[in-house]
Amino acid sequence: MKHACVIGWPVAHSRSPVIHRYWLKLYGLEGAYEQEAVRPEEIAEFLKTLGSHGYAGANVTLPHKEAALAAADRADQAATTIGAANTLWLDAKGLLHASNTDAYGFMTHLAQEAPDWNKGKRPVMVLGAGGAARAILQGLIEAGASKILLANRTGDRAKVLAQSFGPRVSVVPWEDRSKALAGCGLLVNTTSLGMTGKPPLDINLSALPLDAIVADIVYSPLETPLLAAAVGRGNRTVDGLGMLLHQAVPGFERWFGVRPEVTPALRAHVAAHLEAS
Ligand SMILES: NC(=O)c1ccc[n+]([C@@H]2O[C@H](COP(=O)([O-])OP(=O)(O)OC[C@H]3O[C@@H](n4cnc5c(N)ncnc54)[C@H](OP(=O)(O)O)[C@@H]3O)[C@@H](O)[C@H]2O)c1
Repeated sequence: MKHACVIGWPVAHSRSPVIHRYWLKLYGLEGAYEQEAVRPEEIAEFLKTLGSHGYAGANVTLPHKEAALAAADRADQAATTIGAANTLWLDAKGLLHASNTDAYGFMTHLAQEAPDWNKGKRPVMVLGAGGAARAILQGLIEAGASKILLANRTGDRAKVLAQSFGPRVSVVPWEDRSKALAGCGLLVNTTSLGMTGKPPLDINLSALPLDAIVADIVYSPLETPLLAAAVGRGNRTVDGLGMLLHQAVPGFERWFGVRPEVTPALRAHVAAHLEAS
């Protein structure tokens, strides 16, 4: 019987068990998916001994994503470029491999919901410069975005992030975020604004073309105030739940040997959990 887990501090908020346990049951696999609350001062030792804890691999959430990359014997290009890992697995020799599947998750969902997101190669506006923003930028650039405008409340953080991605990313001052939407084909919110318990994202969408797509990676609530405003003026929207579901696929396949599907039934199952909590 294979075991995997999600490691975080705290970890109780993680939705990963809901997703992976659904798939284990659906595919009739003999496996288990646990939660491991590991203190920051104990994470290096825990990861070094992941196999002796009985795990074939793990998801890693805040605040351990950088430590997970540092602990790995091998890291793929996504983890290296993003500078953080969210998926770990042990190979037959006991080597610890690290990947970051956030960019894969976001881009897979975006390509499904709005396959024409880069039609006309119009600029993409990304709000936020945290860990998730780095993954989104990596995914967008790899998929062919030619001009990305990046705005973040803390301007210096946006500058550092933009520099690491080269000339396709340019920084827009946070106070200019609304007017910079003119001519954009895609707007992505990667800040935590709009999340339950946080203030809504304060942005005026009136300059955004009506055929532009608005994506939010916040998934609780499923329809954030940003997405509601976009729907209200007729823009197509892409929510954050699809990213969460798709980022889980590669890890499950590594640990349990079956590539799982993201289906409407899984979406409904996880959405019901989100609503109940
Ligand atoms: N759908 C998914 O699968 C998925 C995956 C990863 C993350 N997420 C969600 O994405 C969000 C960001 O995650 P993260 O890991 O990137 O977090 P993070 O590293 O802590 O970054 C937070 C970002 O939000 C901005 N922010 C926070 N409060 C703000 C405020 N009051 N005004 C303006 N900007 C504010 C921060 O700006 P400063 O730099 O100025 O502080 C920063 O850009 C979270 O809600 C998380 O749940 C979703």
